[in-house]
Amino acid sequence: MSPTNGAPQSAHLSNGGVDIYLEVINGALVIRYWGKSIEGGFASIPFARSVPHSDYDQIQNSGFMREHSRGWLGYPTISGHRNGKNWSTHFVVTELSHTKESFAATLEDSVAQLNVKFSGKLDEFGVLKASMILTNHGDDYCLNELFYWLPLSDRATQTLDFAGRWSKERNPQRRDIAIGRWIRDSHEGRSGHNYTIGEIALNEFTNFGSGEAWAVSLAWSGDSQYCVEKNYEGVQSIGASEVLLPGEGMLKKGESYTAPELFAWYSDSGLDGLAQNLHRHLRARSVHPKKARPMTLNLWEAIYFAHDEAKVRQLVDIASAIGVERVVLDDGWFGSRRNDRSGLGDWTVSKDMWPNGLSGIVDYVVSKKMEFGLWFEGEMVNPDSDLYRAHPDWILNVAGRFPPTWRHELVLNLDNQDAYNHVLNQTSQILTDHKISYIKWDHNRTLIDAGSNGKPAVGKQTKALYRLFAELKKRHPGLEIESCASGGARIDLGIIDSVDRFWTSDNNDALERQTIQRWTAQFIPPELLGTHIGSDPGHQTSRHLSIAFRAATALFGHAGIERDLTELSQAELKVLKDWIDLYKSKRALLHNGDVIRMDYPNDAHYLHGVIGRDKSEALFSYVQLRPIVTSHAPNLRIRGLKSSATYQVKAIEVAGKAEYMAITPPPWLEKGAVMTGSELEHVGLPAPILCPENALLLEITLTK
Ligand code: GLA
Repeated sequence: MSPTNGAPQSAHLSNGGVDIYLEVINGALVIRYWGKSIEGGFASIPFARSVPHSDYDQIQNSGFMREHSRGWLGYPTISGHRNGKNWSTHFVVTELSHTKESFAATLEDSVAQLNVKFSGKLDEFGVLKASMILTNHGDDYCLNELFYWLPLSDRATQTLDFAGRWSKERNPQRRDIAIGRWIRDSHEGRSGHNYTIGEIALNEFTNFGSGEAWAVSLAWSGDSQYCVEKNYEGVQSIGASEVLLPGEGMLKKGESYTAPELFAWYSDSGLDGLAQNLHRHLRARSVHPKKARPMTLNLWEAIYFAHDEAKVRQLVDIASAIGVERVVLDDGWFGSRRNDRSGLGDWTVSKDMWPNGLSGIVDYVVSKKMEFGLWFEGEMVNPDSDLYRAHPDWILNVAGRFPPTWRHELVLNLDNQDAYNHVLNQTSQILTDHKISYIKWDHNRTLIDAGSNGKPAVGKQTKALYRLFAELKKRHPGLEIESCASGGARIDLGIIDSVDRFWTSDNNDALERQTIQRWTAQFIPPELLGTHIGSDPGHQTSRHLSIAFRAATALFGHAGIERDLTELSQAELKVLKDWIDLYKSKRALLHNGDVIRMDYPNDAHYLHGVIGRDKSEALFSYVQLRPIVTSHAPNLRIRGLKSSATYQVKAIEVAGKAEYMAITPPPWLEKGAVMTGSELEHVGLPAPILCPENALLLEITLTK
């Protein structure tokens, strides 16, 4: 059967340097191509392959649905059954429509009584956003899994994804694609510290500056999986799906399952090209924060649970004097929350810590022309809380079992309307009663036995949170939300549309942050990544690092401070003030420009920066992570500027001098250098010999 009413048999999408080509073959929807835009069309390309020995007698095209019934022997798109039947599907395209940038297909299996709507839009940045809806037209159907699978060019020979733990998020792992299936899955009920954010396929020669790369990421904060598969035929594909717990995909007659949207994007300009395409796509969203990202003081590491109004006022005074624009009061302001063992769930101001309430301090901050932010962890409850004592049944659980606690917490069941209303209304009331324009929303534990009325509810919990954020933003226009989960355990392309900032990591150690920020920015634009100057020594690693290094590191994101400012001398505060001034003068560049990570020939150094979209200015950081064996490091070469334009390159000191292991640094360092973009890219500047754990900032401006 072919599409009805003479509907088109193919769809060629082309936008942002990317082409996608679909064909209907024997009723199957086959994605023939996804990659670099090509000259000409696809219609005359002879795609059909040989028939090998010991194989089907005719060429099989199982298509996007990857069905056994069409000869597919790899991992399928859909897995499910109706009381043991209808486990093998045979979908046929009944509608296909497309424009140059979008397609919409309907596929039906009249025997299994299932219908799939699969559609996508390819934007001017080469980012495809696809969606898939499965509808059941028969008796109860149990969907186990619905995957998005895209064909992967045989030029992709490796995968790149990210692993991690608390305080060490986004560690890259790159490996060869071999026959079999490589899976990165998360089962935490949140995306997690170990969440990869996306799966990348690339060539072994692809680096930051050149080469091809394909990526997928799900718009989802619950359980998910990413796969790259190469089968015995040599066919490669890349895919992603929500992980449904058993029974989570039960569909009654007429009910639908909507898969989280899939982002799929491509670049032939290396990992930087890939990052830039996604950053541009995300920046074009209507919900992307528009106002300048305020310099933030987060009070967590300054006071922890020792809330004291006089001390906080002192901190606010100093913050205001040095140019801070937003002060965030962290954990400890509510209920009996004097440590992390009690009070979570009771979102009313603590009389013990704030006898006069929060209005005084909020108004004080606002009177100093700064924003006030407040911490919540609305999805969680301490067993030692009024809320839990009153409603022990409001937690996610199975058969009344008490799940193992994690940071002394249990998870509230937001699928329970009363629990949901409690969280929404208590949070909303605090926002109504105070001039609070920002909330930091934490999620410090995993979901275990995430049952609601005995049924699995990770998906429901995830969607309930999205609804809750939308409702809070509706009730409190202008409210900004930071997604935090013990640092960077809920950074994903699902929650991104509901929030305005991510807490990148609890680890404020600048050396660790260099790597965490470098790779989180593979997906997330820097203006959404919280980057703070922490204490010295760092509270997570006990490592001493110079203020110059910490300041240069925290500059490349949504910058802030997280330390006790009352401990600092006037001279130290002046250093912070200068840094804040620099941040303010550079944030338009840092938050709109293109992220560049140079392929520096050894991993003891990073050379990274941001180039303005019009290429008239840039800010780079040359970072010495570790000592190297040779006296001199390779030249500092910078790609991405206008080749024939002339630039002034100047070293700038933001919070004191970098330290050098040399009698004299290269002469250009003192007065700067004037070079063309081409000279900078191909010859570069002699690298100064930095001491380890130092960074040198380079300001680059167009001269003519
Ligand atoms: C988590 C967050 C921290 C801080 C604490 C408060 O660990 O990641 O930034 O808010 O909770 O308990």
